[in-house]
Parts: sequence; structure tokens; C-alpha cells
Amino acid sequence: MALLGIDLGTSGVKALAIREDGTPLASATVEYPLSTPRPLWSEQDPADWWRGTCAAVHAVLAMAHLSSADVRAVGLSGQMHGLTLLDRAETVLRPAILWNDQRTGPQCEEITRIVGGQHHLLELTANVMLPGFTAPKIVWVRENEPQVYAQVAHILLPKDYIRYRMSGEFATEVSDASGMLLFDVRHRTWSRDMLDALAIPAEWMPRTAESHEVTAYVSPSVADEIGLTAGTPIVGGGGDNAAGAVGNGVVREGTVSASIGTSGVVFAASEKFVMEPEGKLHAFCHALPDTWHVMGVMLSAGGSLRWFRDVIAAGRQENRGSGLESVNINSNSQIPLSNHKPPIGYDDLMADADAIQPGTEGLVFLPYLTGERCPYPDPLARGAFVGLTLRHTQAHLTRAVVEGVTFGLADSLQLVRDLGIRIDEVRAIGGGARSAVWRQMLADVFQTEITLINSSEGGAFGVALLAGVGTGVWANTRQACDATLKVTTRVEPTKDAAVRRAYSDAYARYRELYPALAGVFARL
Ligand code: XUL
Repeated sequence: MALLGIDLGTSGVKALAIREDGTPLASATVEYPLSTPRPLWSEQDPADWWRGTCAAVHAVLAMAHLSSADVRAVGLSGQMHGLTLLDRAETVLRPAILWNDQRTGPQCEEITRIVGGQHHLLELTANVMLPGFTAPKIVWVRENEPQVYAQVAHILLPKDYIRYRMSGEFATEVSDASGMLLFDVRHRTWSRDMLDALAIPAEWMPRTAESHEVTAYVSPSVADEIGLTAGTPIVGGGGDNAAGAVGNGVVREGTVSASIGTSGVVFAASEKFVMEPEGKLHAFCHALPDTWHVMGVMLSAGGSLRWFRDVIAAGRQENRGSGLESVNINSNSQIPLSNHKPPIGYDDLMADADAIQPGTEGLVFLPYLTGERCPYPDPLARGAFVGLTLRHTQAHLTRAVVEGVTFGLADSLQLVRDLGIRIDEVRAIGGGARSAVWRQMLADVFQTEITLINSSEGGAFGVALLAGVGTGVWANTRQACDATLKVTTRVEPTKDAAVRRAYSDAYARYRELYPALAGVFARL
């Protein structure tokens, strides 16, 4: 038998099949579009999610040579916070408004005022209101599309819309529900106070479960369309960050993950409810019972290096000599490949960065290219290079970008430390973790051991494990992780006092810059 994990991402949906001992069998990803009908808006058509999911499930079963009857259970993960609205006839009312949509600044302020200020909002939901979250999107629809709002009968998060299509059930689970800001994270249940304050009918909300619990079964009417047997159990699953944490074994206090993808996420599990007093970290339920997590999200982590590669470093290849590259066919002949310009790779950039001393001779990069969430919830924050001199080369700029992103993650890690959460080990995940140079920098700046594990399947793997827990393959989620995940690489922080001092001085400079520049950013 096999377990299936489905991760409904922002650019596409991934289906992963694993054996009951955790061995990955195959995965398939199907992409779908994202639309930006106006500046700051970000929407998707839930019908595309469903089509993509059906295609990905058919593809993964074929690739793994599985029949639908071989699938023991399914877990769902996905992009958090997105608003999907259905009417009484269960028809989708408008395109889903996604987590990275920024239209709801005014609604965030309004909601915070209605519930009696930031402090009370934190008491009710453990979080501050950010445009990405779901509650302000609901209020935006009420204020701007009253004819749509008048027809609403059901509110669903993206992955839970897939559950509904698979089974006809309206259900979610605690980790994703936490990010709606209508949820009492401490008590793991809907917040009646929030729903009442915003006059959102409680009947619109799906019922909630713990992440490993069976919430629904594949219905006969869609079995052929999705390629699964009617009656196959579907467990709660998790929002992509909580599910990813399960997939990376971040399920106990002491293990923290630092993810460098387009965005950057520092994620720490806690066996008691914990929140940052000013809401600088998100505080959500984890995908394990009686477990919570705090999370710092920076918006442009790997995204900063990609921007740098595409916009600044793109000229570097011109300096390599006319773009005329050659390939060695055998020891005697070299065939020139005219017009062949290899793109600058991340490996080249990281090698450049590695040649510069820690601290980048005083040059600092602020990575707030798309505003920031953590530690500064400021959509108006901007990127900057500060401290440029004639001495600085492109390699210095590269290193400054990598250091700036690392310092941004260090800010989140420090907030986790300040909460008294133990940090024994930081698991590096995402594209940035593939670079040995970056891993060493993380270890040196964080002053913690950095580890890599034997899986890079992330959230899809996490919810496949949850599907196994919910149907008796493993006794619980920690046991599932222990049975399937191993540390493969350990990086120790440097013992070189000069390097440590260089980083701590550079980090101190970095910390001073946002407060000094925030006023200017707001006026740009
Ligand atoms: C988390 C968040 C993103 C989305 C997109 O708060 O906004 O990580 O879940 O994947």
C-alpha cells in the first residue's frame, strides 16, 4: 500500500506517493496560472487547482505503477490564508484571493480597531492582522463586492477546497485555520469573539480537526475524475509551513528549521502555547496535537539573490569575454560555441561571495525588496545597499546580499530565542540550503549547528506521513518522523574568533539600518 501527499502550492500542485516505510515512489507537479488583475492583487481560479490536482494524482499513480486501490490514505497541504467563497449551491463565487495579495491594508486597521486594539487582537488570535491573512480578505469582499458577499454560504482555505471537491465535506484542520485570524490558537477552536466582532456567521466556517485525523472520504462521484477509490480516507493535513515542518522532522522543541526559498521562514515547534508578546512572529497550531509553532517569515530571501542574479549580475558574463564559450570535446579539439552565453548560476555567485571576507568590508544589504513581515511588519520597507565605496566589486555586492538575507533570518531566530524556546539544531531547507557556502554562513551567524536531512519533499511528504498516522501505519507523528527521517549532514559554527567578531559587527550594523531608514522608506 502507498500513502499520498498533495501540496497545493502557489505556482502548482505536487502529488507525492510514498511507501508505508516512508520511501518516496514518485512525484508529479502540475502548474497553474496566477492572475494580478490590479497592482497588489493576487488571485487564482479554484477550478485550476482542482484540474491540476486531478492531473497530478493520475500522473503520480502512473509513474509509481500504483492502482487507485493501492492508496491507503491521502493528506492535503497547501498555500495558507487564501479565501475561497462558495454559495449555498456550493458554486465558487469569485476567484480565490491569495496569501500574497496586498489589497487589505485598510481592512487590517479597521479590524484591529473593531476588536479593541492590537493587544486584544493578540489575546484572541495570538497574531497581529496582516494583509496576507484571511479575515481582512472577507471584510474586503463585504465592503467592495456586496453582491458577492450576500451569496456567501461557505468559506474555505485552498487545500480545504480540494478536500471539498474530493469528498463533499467542509472541513479544515488547526494549523491552516490558525492563519485565518478567526481562530483561537491557544484553545485550538474557532474564536466566537472574532466571528461575532466581525459579524461573520459561524456556520460559514468548516469544522476543524487535528492534522492526523481522518476528516473525509473520497466520494464515488469524483473517484474516476481524480483517480482514487471511493472511500479512501483523507486526513486533516496542514498549512504548507506546518506540513513542511513535519516533512522535515521539526516536531519537537529544540529542532528549528530555516528555509531559504523565494521567501525565508524560521519555524520552531513548541510543546506549550507560546506567542511573541508584540506579535512579531506568527503563532499558529502545529500539525501535532498539543503542539504549537512560532514562525518568522521574511518575504525576499532567495528572492533577493534571484533579483540580484537577474538584474545586477546579468552583466557579469559580458566581462568574461564576448560570450564566446568553448566546450572540450576531447583532449585535442575545442569547439567554440558562438552566441552561447550561459546564464550566471547560483554556484558562480556563491563562489564569488565566498572569496570576500565576512562582513563584506562594511557593505550592508537590506533584503526588504517586497516589503517585510518579520521582524518588521512593514509593506513599505525597501531594499538597500548601504556603505558602498570604490573598493567594492560585484563579488562584494553578492556577498552583501547573501549576508543580508542571513541576517534577516537571524532576526527571526533571535525572536524565537527570546521566547525561551531551546534551539539545539537548525535544519536548513529550500534552494539556499543546497549551497555549502550559505550553510556555513548560517552556522557562523546563528552560532548553531546546521543540519540537512535525507528528504527534500517538504509539505507533500509531511502530509503523506500524517495520512499514515491517521490510518494506523505509525502510532503518532513524532514516531512517523523518527522512522523515516535522518540527518545526513552537520555543519558546525566556526571557532575562528575573528570570523565570529566580523559577523557580529556586521549584524549590529545591519540591525541599525532599518530603524534609521524606515521613515525614508515610507516616503518613497
Ligand atoms: C505563511 C504564508 C506562506 C504561504 C504560501 O504565513 O503566507 O508561507 O503559506 O505558501
